Amino acid sequence: MFSIILTLVMLQESPASNIDWDKEFGVEEKVRDPLTGEFPIEPFAPDNANAGAEPFDNAKMASYFGGHEGIRKIAERTVELSEQDPRISAIFVARDTVRLKRTLFEQFCYLLDAGCDYSGRDMITAHADLGVKMADLNALVENLQKAMREERVPFAVQNRFLAKLAPMSKDVVTR
Ligand code: HEM
Repeated sequence: MFSIILTLVMLQESPASNIDWDKEFGVEEKVRDPLTGEFPIEPFAPDNANAGAEPFDNAKMASYFGGHEGIRKIAERTVELSEQDPRISAIFVARDTVRLKRTLFEQFCYLLDAGCDYSGRDMITAHADLGVKMADLNALVENLQKAMREERVPFAVQNRFLAKLAPMSKDVVTR
């Protein structure tokens, strides 16, 4: 009798290995698009207004950034420096930085009037669950400044660009 009870207790307590916990909790595995290397995101309506500011009305701005090639290098370098930056790297872990490099390039290219459309999300939506603080924003700006310096963007032009981005801080900083 004792052994029957013991067996029943053990059966009850033994972990069930055949349960699909992802299914139980509704967790879906996200798979990168084989062409773009990006993860899928919730559907939204793309609009240049999502870029968060009006573009410069000055063709010289884009040339100071080295056109598309320079803008792309600066956007990608900003993301890479931020991923390596111990002050803010945690915010980028488990985020789609393939997508971020592309959308940041598009946003910069659009704002610099270099002939791009911005296909990303608006700044409030994109940063809503990141818990970004003012100090994090300052760190990211330093990384962007370094990336612009490396591409020899003149200091006054760097500051004009940063002034364009500055009002977005109210949408990005959430705590
Ligand atoms: C004015 C400053 C900023 C601008 C212009 C900006 C721009 C952008 C853009 C264009 C996106 C992509 C939106 C999309 O995926 O559709 C994005 C996403 C993101 N940003 Fe920012 N950002 C700013 C500040 C920051 C700061 C301070 C941090 C962290 C220190 C940050 C971290 C991220 C991360 C991790 C994502 C990816 C979110 C995700 O995929 O879920 N951003 N940002």
